[in-house]
Amino acid sequence: MKRKTMVLGVIGHPVSHSLSPVMHSAAAKSLGLDLTYDTYDVPPDELEDLMDRFRNGDMDGLNVTVPHKVAVMEYMNELMDNAEKVGAVNTICRKGDKLIGANTDVYGFITSVEKNAGEIAARGRILVYGAGGAARAVCHAFADRNVERLLIANRTRHKAEALADSLTGVGCAIDVLDYESNNLVDSVRSADIIVNTTSVGMESVSEKFLPGSENIHQGQLVVDIVYRPLETPLLRQAKRAGAMTLDGLWMLIHQGARSFTLWTGAEFPVELARVSLLKALNED
Ligand code: ATR
Repeated sequence: MKRKTMVLGVIGHPVSHSLSPVMHSAAAKSLGLDLTYDTYDVPPDELEDLMDRFRNGDMDGLNVTVPHKVAVMEYMNELMDNAEKVGAVNTICRKGDKLIGANTDVYGFITSVEKNAGEIAARGRILVYGAGGAARAVCHAFADRNVERLLIANRTRHKAEALADSLTGVGCAIDVLDYESNNLVDSVRSADIIVNTTSVGMESVSEKFLPGSENIHQGQLVVDIVYRPLETPLLRQAKRAGAMTLDGLWMLIHQGARSFTLWTGAEFPVELARVSLLKALNED
């Protein structure tokens, strides 16, 4: 007999800390959808087996998190939704035995900015801290909106240079900044939007402040994609300076919203997801 319940989940390693089950389960319940959403802790040497099980029908859709976002690409039959451009997959849909990889981080990021701070999103100078996978998605999201200039600052400069090289041809000017320099301080002052995509500010990381961030001022938008803690030291600093702020839960919610719609065809209850996530974070 055909299985009725849709089986969804997130693969990662480690993955037990993921908040995705909270929001997807709350969304399914509120919409009356018959689905489960679980975490699958998959060490790298078990990824192939898991992909085989998925292709054979054990699951219907998956999110992908660290460290598998690039590694899963070789198992995809098709790519959609920015996956090729960003070079990473965070959402997989299954059609029969075909796996289709998407990247909803780009949508999640830009939607969180536009829904919460639309008037600022239209402006031109963007400073991005970091050069990892999240920074790639953020840079592509801004490049798609034809911003004037993207400035990238990363602790390890050569990674920022590699990211800048990979963005060649996107249609906006791109500069790499030295992580500790006067140049960076000037760029912080003149940026319209400042985004942290690094681990700095996370509860588990000892560094709490980004170089130059003491120069943030009123009129700017400061976005942190870190959401543990929800109010990072950077966001607290920005609020004190009178800047507008956006926390990392919004990106999580909107990337999840897009994934949910790809799997189920249903619209994701964004506000309800936020309430359930805030509750889960408080109970942590
Ligand atoms: P993600 O996919 O979440 O972007 P990642 O690819 O591991 O994760 O990237 C982590 C980012 O956080 C990198 O830009 C990293 O800087 P390096 O390239 O120098 O490693 C940055 N990062 C992590 N810990 C940091 C710290 N303590 N100080 C400054 N930057 C840090």
